[in-house]
Amino acid sequence: MQSFNKENFVAVSREEILAGSEKLSFDLYSINLEQGMLEPVVICRRGTSSHAVARAISGRLLDKLFVRKQALQDFYDHMEESLGALIDNPRLPTKKKSDILYHCASNVMQDVYNDPRSGENIERSREISNHIIRFSLNDPASIPTLLSLSSHNYYTFTHCVNVAVFGVGLWQFVGLGSPSELREFAQGAILHDVGKSKIADEILNKPGKLTDEEFEIIKTHPRNGYELMEGKVSDIALDIILHHHERYDGSGYPEKLGGSTISDNAKVAILADVYDALTTNRPYGDARDPFQAMLLMKEKMVGHFEQQKFISFIRFLSNTPTA
Ligand SMILES: [Fe+2]
Ligand SMILES: [Fe+2]
Repeated sequence: MQSFNKENFVAVSREEILAGSEKLSFDLYSINLEQGMLEPVVICRRGTSSHAVARAISGRLLDKLFVRKQALQDFYDHMEESLGALIDNPRLPTKKKSDILYHCASNVMQDVYNDPRSGENIERSREISNHIIRFSLNDPASIPTLLSLSSHNYYTFTHCVNVAVFGVGLWQFVGLGSPSELREFAQGAILHDVGKSKIADEILNKPGKLTDEEFEIIKTHPRNGYELMEGKVSDIALDIILHHHERYDGSGYPEKLGGSTISDNAKVAILADVYDALTTNRPYGDARDPFQAMLLMKEKMVGHFEQQKFISFIRFLSNTPTA
């Protein structure tokens, strides 16, 4: 029935489009299969006001809506503006909200890595981590659904989104502090590896074992990140950026903190970071399933984590099916 080239279009839902409170930043297409339409036609040009879009859509209840694939970036930029309304919309299923939020969060982190000094990008990282929290409070299925979207292939920016999602879930499970602390924690978690933006891709994505010199370069990223973000994010966020590679037994870096000198916020971020690294395909190793990752953390990484937090982590994981 559909003769048009599907490769060029992506179907979007009415609710997604109606969630937009700004002018349309892409052309919106429609097709009515019942009328035998063979090609999508433009029903709203970019720049159309949200009211006019709502009127146009309500007159075409049987139509399917599409966005051109080349315009997807514009679509997600548009959705980023409307995430609050989208998350609050009870008619949109969790999976749909998760898809859009995950995409938007990955886009934001890609932009942060490309330009970590941009105040606008740092502000977007704050807003997107607030949306993750909002979603997690609105919908108990949100965290597992967001985590299930991870491609299991490693990209620094999706890793950061995963650490923020898992970290927000674990932080709430452990019950660490006030809502404002959670917001600072989430921004720190999503920015935790921002210092890697200064490290060459050949080292970051090297297949095989790093040389000692290369590992020393990798180990500069917490401090690089701290220096990049100092004065731009809160102390709680900076603490996570600087200390997410510390270990409970003092064998971590960069400051070789240990025991209670590592904050509770950093301890949660450390667990989320290690867990995501183990469950994602890396240039030097295949992803483990959640159970294998947990076992490896328990048996081979003794001393890295505070026991109490590790127990909470296992409990959280068993309540949060993520595969
Ligand atoms: Fe890191
Ligand atoms: Fe990390």
